[in-house]
Amino acid sequence: METTHRLLVDDSRTLTAVADDSVELVVTSPPYPMIEMWDDLFAELDPAISSALESGNGQAAFEAMHAQLDRVWDELERVLVDGGIACINVGDATRTLDDSFRVYPNHARVTDAFEKRGFDPLPDILWRKPANSAAKFMGSGMIPPNAYVTLEHEYVLIFRNGGDRRTFEPGADRRYEAAYFWEERNRWFTDVWTEVRGELQGLENVPDDVRERSGAYPLEIPYRLLCMYSTYGDTVLDPFWGTGTTSLAAMCAGRNSIGYELEDGFLDVFADRISDVDTLSRSVGRTRLERHREFVERRRADGEEPSYEASHYDVPVMTKMESDIRFREVEAVERTDAGYAVEHVPLEEVPESRSDSA
Ligand SMILES: C[S@@+](CC[C@H](N)C(=O)[O-])C[C@H]1O[C@@H](n2cnc3c(N)ncnc32)[C@H](O)[C@@H]1O
Repeated sequence: METTHRLLVDDSRTLTAVADDSVELVVTSPPYPMIEMWDDLFAELDPAISSALESGNGQAAFEAMHAQLDRVWDELERVLVDGGIACINVGDATRTLDDSFRVYPNHARVTDAFEKRGFDPLPDILWRKPANSAAKFMGSGMIPPNAYVTLEHEYVLIFRNGGDRRTFEPGADRRYEAAYFWEERNRWFTDVWTEVRGELQGLENVPDDVRERSGAYPLEIPYRLLCMYSTYGDTVLDPFWGTGTTSLAAMCAGRNSIGYELEDGFLDVFADRISDVDTLSRSVGRTRLERHREFVERRRADGEEPSYEASHYDVPVMTKMESDIRFREVEAVERTDAGYAVEHVPLEEVPESRSDSA
């Protein structure tokens, strides 16, 4: 199976290279309005934003920044298939302007924008960022009433394009092989994620300074969302691609991807990140299988045996729907004019004896 990963150094306010109804999933994290690290970028998109900030008019700056994001949301409505899903990772901003401190509720403004464009909001996810204790106290410290709560969470807002769900031919392999385990479903489809760096921790290779400068999200976020909301053969679009975490996740998950990014320097960061994507994709699949085996052991210890056998791996599963689950690993990566072409093969089990001696 081959997937393609198209990369465009271009402005996503017009997704000229993406055809109508050609994308099944969007996973992205825009620059967050009213967070200072993105002021210059927004000011380049609309110079009126600098004037609003300089004159201390936070509400006008907030609205003008969102007006730039709105243009991208317009395009998503066009390129997403009916029933396609958009997952938008965004955090709110706190800021003092003109001596006045307040929160700028980006998540509410983005939700409003998607609803206005005919998307149906679906239940969202809140994930906890690692706490930064140095920034804990905001406002008047230990004396009431003028201290402020510190924001330590971000949102993954989830929207469906149009009213109907996507349909598939009965028994479609690309859907059943893309199944997730029962216990993964229970963990992933909860509305608060607290351990998003847990599962794939140590497998990522983005230096901390690059992560900070680029606003990169943990690989676990797009990887889970891809597994939850797309099937093999689908295409995921990230209109704010940054260091390409979404495309890296798509390579590991066996999906196609398209990325739009203004900064061409991130292409080299991405080339470094995928230098060992074959090993990464294998580790991701094997880690999922290992965690599933641990889950089965815990069930057995409680005297409960899962009822079905997986067809491609030597392990029981809880439901019939999981039985055709099959991971993909990357076998070869080729640089193309448009981005990358990736050859995937089904992930094979490590025979017990080999995994024991490893
Ligand atoms: C929050 S970062 C995304 C980080 C990314 N999720 C990652 O893991 O590296 C937002 C990115 O959007 C890019 N960007 C902002 N406005 C854009 C536009 N109109 N078109 C294309 N890229 C844009 C910025 O340059 C920045 O790299």
